[in-house]
Amino acid sequence: MGAIFQSLGRSVLAGVVLLVVLVLVAGGNVSPSHAWATFVMRWLHVLCGVMWVGLLWYFNFVQIPSMPKIPDEQKPAVSKVIAPTALFWFRWSALATVVTGLLLATMSGYLVGALMLQKPFTAIGIGMWIALVMAFNVWFIIWPNQKKALGIVTVEAAEKAKAARLAMLTSRFNTMLSIPMLFCMVAQQNGGL
Ligand code: HEM
Repeated sequence: MGAIFQSLGRSVLAGVVLLVVLVLVAGGNVSPSHAWATFVMRWLHVLCGVMWVGLLWYFNFVQIPSMPKIPDEQKPAVSKVIAPTALFWFRWSALATVVTGLLLATMSGYLVGALMLQKPFTAIGIGMWIALVMAFNVWFIIWPNQKKALGIVTVEAAEKAKAARLAMLTSRFNTMLSIPMLFCMVAQQNGGL
């Protein structure tokens, strides 16, 4: 057991093995059908989305409010080590969520209808547009400004402070958007809208 949980890679692999065992034991309806492939895409989509929004909420609920309480000499542990790693998973999981979400909508046959907010795909269409705005913010506002704020790209002190503020405000904006976005995601199948 210890050998598994001392490694993140082995822990994740163990999760996949556990899933396969559970599906086999439960006699899951696994078949090489379009419906099954769509279901697997939905599962992958939710996995990616959980990582993205989980990290977004980590930044907003944990890291940003904690920074003023950390002594200056200890701040580099966050800015040089933790934040760059979190941002790596954050931006790539955002992209993976967009890709799996768009594939899911395509496989479900309503990509264009949803993006045009046609009935009965209005709920997921609104959710998709909100999530696309959030993903745009991640890649084109938060990440470029975080690179300046964290010193990955060297800029003058004033520009660094400005970049840190813009990244923080955009991150808060995305936290606000995540609330209606998630409502719309789950509303489509469950009559919430
Ligand atoms: C641009 C990004 C996104 C796109 C294009 C997208 C697209 C979709 C689509 C097409 C569905 C299926 C709706 C249905 O037919 O029931 C869906 C469901 C869902 N999405 Fe997203 N989504 C995006 C972002 C996110 C994010 C960031 C999350 C965060 C966790 C998320 C979580 C979910 C959840 C929980 C469901 C419900 C699955 C179910 O009820 O079976 N999505 N999304």
